[in-house]
Amino acid sequence: MKIQVFPSILSADLLNMEKSIKLVEEYSDALHIDIMDGHFVPNLSYGPSLVKAIKKKFNLPLNVHLMVEKPELFVDMFIESGADHLGFHIENTYHPQRLLKYIRDHKVRPFITLNPSTSLSTLDYLLGEVDLVLLMTVNPGYGGQEFLPFCLKKIRDLRERATKEGINLDIMVDGGIDLKTASLVVEAGANILISGQGIFGSEDPKNVILKMKTLTYKEV
Ligand code: DX5
Ligand code: ZN
Repeated sequence: MKIQVFPSILSADLLNMEKSIKLVEEYSDALHIDIMDGHFVPNLSYGPSLVKAIKKKFNLPLNVHLMVEKPELFVDMFIESGADHLGFHIENTYHPQRLLKYIRDHKVRPFITLNPSTSLSTLDYLLGEVDLVLLMTVNPGYGGQEFLPFCLKKIRDLRERATKEGINLDIMVDGGIDLKTASLVVEAGANILISGQGIFGSEDPKNVILKMKTLTYKEV
């Protein structure tokens, strides 16, 4: 399983966004962009105009993480602004299957996100609909928080389940991922690492990404 790294621009230099992205552009598999509404999470970030501006300048796929209530009201604007992957939280919608299908029908790769304490059983009837799942490893809302170790079991359980059911599933993790926690989550079965402070807060972002990519998952 090849490890992919998606730097989270929440920790990029806001006043020098282009420069920050250029630092990681060559080594990243996609850019992770957090959309916060101040309701679902106690913080605000940015909107579709930033996604559009980045899309215009860079060739990297854009992985857009909606942390908003009523995500169905927001998906169109992010599809139009150029998201390549578009994900919402299972906690925020009554009709996740419908929303996943809607996004896919618009030629964007959908993903579903679970907060740390949300059970994997919420995915029971959705794994046939989605091949990309984001497991939060902090409570969403801010960059630079500490990784929650209890999430390791959840990652392991989901990977085991996917393997057992023969599902080719990409498992992303988001929150507190640095070189130390990266090796733990990869060992548990995550294959896409989202990292903000771990990359942009380091002296050498390129080196962090390259090191993360050398990690390997040993099937049990
Ligand atoms: C947190 C966001 C993350 C954030 C991660 O709510 O969803 O994408 O940027 O930041 P770090 O890697 O610094 O924990
Ligand atoms: Zn995120």
